[in-house]
Amino acid sequence: MDARKGGFAHYMQKEIFEQPQVFYNTVHAVRESPEALAYFVGSRMSLMIVACGSSYHAALLYKYLIESYCDIPVRVEIGSEFKYYAPPLTVPVIGITQSGETADTLAALKMAKAWGCPTIAITNVVGSSVTRIADATIYTRAGPEMSVAATKSFIAQLAAGLQITAFLSDNTALEMELNRVNIMIEDTLTIEVEDAVALCCTAQSIFFIGRGLYYPVALEGALKMKEISYIHAEGYAAGELKHGPFALLSPDTPVIALAMPGKTYPVMISNIKEIKARGAPVIGIGIAGDSELPEIVDLFIPLPPCNEVAGIAMASVMLQRLAYYVADGLGCDIDKPRNLAKSVTVE
Ligand code: G6P
Repeated sequence: MDARKGGFAHYMQKEIFEQPQVFYNTVHAVRESPEALAYFVGSRMSLMIVACGSSYHAALLYKYLIESYCDIPVRVEIGSEFKYYAPPLTVPVIGITQSGETADTLAALKMAKAWGCPTIAITNVVGSSVTRIADATIYTRAGPEMSVAATKSFIAQLAAGLQITAFLSDNTALEMELNRVNIMIEDTLTIEVEDAVALCCTAQSIFFIGRGLYYPVALEGALKMKEISYIHAEGYAAGELKHGPFALLSPDTPVIALAMPGKTYPVMISNIKEIKARGAPVIGIGIAGDSELPEIVDLFIPLPPCNEVAGIAMASVMLQRLAYYVADGLGCDIDKPRNLAKSVTVE
């Protein structure tokens, strides 16, 4: 076994296990970067975020968080699409990029800068190209990520986004909650997923669904699954499933439904019932002690009781673990999936 993997079979598994510490380190590092955060304070009108891949999913979480906690409208764009914007923007533009080298994200920030927009980088790599383009940089503290599939860098981006949200909304209760999320992530690392893995390993295609904050979590869960297990997976806003994908539901198409407590819960329950009525097996991810969800799903994965912010971190980690064990069960090259690169430096 490779000593650099610290006793784990793959870098991805090691990096999944590092996440409690990474979350903690990033929250505290962002709290201590007042200069970079000051850029956000001056930008209370609206914000634009650009990113690619998993970083784009983190950006979508930022949008939900900043809009709901801070009342600041946030627009999110995929790095490669930004250049097709016709009207020049004037708002602050944030680029989220783990590597700091993704060509499309860098190009978008350069374009925004040329329009005169203030630019902010959120990156994991000190001295990376994005730090030389942006006016200010906020660092995530994931440490080097070796596996191609992003895990700890995504959780670090989430941690930074939550701390930025707490700062912008002057929300000390949220800030206090962030002090406990690392422990909640830790609790997620040992939850049994064997039956869910077995169900997914034989699937033709898997849907991941959620609403609100859990919609980007579902997108990221599907991305993890497809990139390392090669099983076709799609993340969907739960309400959109009936606008097309319902036609694909079958006993070979499991649906992984994020039914966590909060305002999206009742409508998730009715969506799950509609899916069950169309013959697809459902894996429900919810909270231990829920009496309704386990009754209507084929498999129930219980997370420890938590608030919303811990919930999105725990659900994200759970979906990473699911993808990891499915890919492992199928004998895939987990750390170096075919055709993929850690950093995409061409357009
Ligand atoms: C590649 C990686 C992904 C990553 C994306 C964006 O596709 O395989 O894991 O999310 O690039 O990378 P960045 O470094 O900009 O976050």
